[in-house]
Amino acid sequence: MNRDHQDQALDAGENLGSNSSRETSIGELIRRRLGRREALYGAGAMIAAGTTRPAMAQGGNPSSFSFPEVAHRSDATHHVPEGYEAQVLIRWGDPVVAGAPSFDPLKLDAAAQEKQFGYNCDYLGLYPLPLGGPAQDRFLMVVNHEYTNTGLMFSGLGPGREAMARADKSQVAVELAAHGGSVIEIRRERGRWSVVPDSRYARRISLNTPMRFSGPAAGHDKLKTSSDPTGRAPVGMLNQCAGGGTPWGTWLTTEENFNLYFSGDLANAPDRKRYERYGVARTTVFHWGKHVDRFDIGKEPNEPNRFGWIVEIDPYDPTWTPVKRTALGRAKHEGCTYALCRDGRVAFYMGDDERFEYIYKFVTARPWSPTDRAANRDLLDDGTLFVARFDEGGKMEWLPMVHGQGPLTATNGFASQGDVVIEKRRAADLLKPTPMDRPEDIETNPVNGRVYAILTNNDRRTAERVDAANTRGPNKHGHIVEMTPDGGDHAASVGTWAIFMAFGKPGTDPGTVYHPGISANGWLSSPDNCAFDSRGRMWIATDAPATEMADGVWTTDLEGAGRGLTRCFYQAPSGAEVCGPILSPDDRTLFLAIQHPGQDPGSTFDKPSTRWPDFKEGMPPRPSVIAIVKKDGGVVGS
Ligand code: FEO
Ligand code: CA
Ligand code: CA
Ligand code: CA
Repeated sequence: MNRDHQDQALDAGENLGSNSSRETSIGELIRRRLGRREALYGAGAMIAAGTTRPAMAQGGNPSSFSFPEVAHRSDATHHVPEGYEAQVLIRWGDPVVAGAPSFDPLKLDAAAQEKQFGYNCDYLGLYPLPLGGPAQDRFLMVVNHEYTNTGLMFSGLGPGREAMARADKSQVAVELAAHGGSVIEIRRERGRWSVVPDSRYARRISLNTPMRFSGPAAGHDKLKTSSDPTGRAPVGMLNQCAGGGTPWGTWLTTEENFNLYFSGDLANAPDRKRYERYGVARTTVFHWGKHVDRFDIGKEPNEPNRFGWIVEIDPYDPTWTPVKRTALGRAKHEGCTYALCRDGRVAFYMGDDERFEYIYKFVTARPWSPTDRAANRDLLDDGTLFVARFDEGGKMEWLPMVHGQGPLTATNGFASQGDVVIEKRRAADLLKPTPMDRPEDIETNPVNGRVYAILTNNDRRTAERVDAANTRGPNKHGHIVEMTPDGGDHAASVGTWAIFMAFGKPGTDPGTVYHPGISANGWLSSPDNCAFDSRGRMWIATDAPATEMADGVWTTDLEGAGRGLTRCFYQAPSGAEVCGPILSPDDRTLFLAIQHPGQDPGSTFDKPSTRWPDFKEGMPPRPSVIAIVKKDGGVVGS
């Protein structure tokens, strides 16, 4: 979710971060700062801070990327490097499943939206067709639809939160249908990507899709509602932000800011106190509770417990019931990326995107089977959940979150592992992990085996609350932490870490960490998602406050002389953030989800700040997936 959007909520006291502060002594602070220097510069692979070395001479650019850099700019359209082309693959309202009506922005309809591409595309995943095949030109693409911009979708409602409060029942019904996800079949012919119409794999998943719970919390009393007395049959998924996959070819989509959708009186909620840790009903951003009972906590007090999970979906089977895998815990998740352990078990890394929240890992109890897909079906129901502590001197530890161990007992309100996963945040608090600067995406690099945690920013961190892994207070522009599991084994409970880069404008913002050779366009703010090409190089997509810069994509090497030398590859249209970066396996296409174009102050359906990508009078801006290719068909970024 966009930072500006979050800040609208913040202004009303919502989503500030629900983790209460811990005091730090001066002595402790000095010790940490000394330790931090060691963490920064003692780990061997660290690049030097941009301000401590002279900039490299023109022509001395050691980056392995050779594209001509895009200039920092903000206007109604988007920008790719010279010699490149951006193809619009699919837009909000385009047909997904057979029989979808054509898009009419003045006659939005919930039944039509259930068949059309949803709003605010975020995570993108690619699955070869056929399953397990060496496909180059034919894939299933999975897409998250995170949230809706009411004022840009409907005529006459005004901007932003004003529109959200005004939406009527039928408009809210359209919004429910525009959330969730899409599965589309795509193909490449003569260098152009397109959506295969009426594919037998095509699917829309929305807030109306029947799902099921599995794992330790399935059937828990706290998951029961009047429409589901079993506590096993949730309906729909909410605020799907980043995501990931599994080695057996399923899609993991993660529920993020679910709290923003609930309203009503908490007086009858048995979990009133516990809801505070997730910011539920502190204030209302989406006023759905006026029209849909289950979003009114006074009527359905357990409904918020049914969101915040990792959802597994098989893109190859459109009849498959999506499963909320409770063993991985409940948070405002962003990213769920796998890495194989030495013994064939599978580790999944997860971020919890809020100020001062934590980084988690789940390790399956059993190895996965590369030869028997069905044997992996319920692998995510059994395993161990961990939360990360980043120590001075570049060491880290994964703390197990197991019921009955340490403080996770009935005395502290945890009567079962189901209790632990439903209240993952509070359970983690008791283990004293490191509160991070908004852990958004987290990605494992298949080439160097390291894990990259993208920490977007944290303007609430003060100088008194900095620590070894979060060194700036306030942290306006974010940073990236690079983790190496002990022995290269993702099952390891210890490892090392270093700060890879720290963002902002060098020379203006304190504490930036870049390669000294970056150009005037090489700096960035607020990294959100990242992807790796087949050489293991990093592509970073941003979600910055509009006051800092337009969002875009920057590239950097992770190894060699170009490590930390970010270069600007893409600039988004006005108001948009860039999500879901993913490269085709042949590195000849970069797919991006362009989320909330036109989300600018005062921008409305009737008077939008941009009409990207159609630029037709009467057509609002439309969140879209794009494919960026090199005009000569070569490797992108080269
Ligand atoms: Fe949905 Fe954390 O951005
Ligand atoms: Ca974000
Ligand atoms: Ca987002
Ligand atoms: Ca995000």
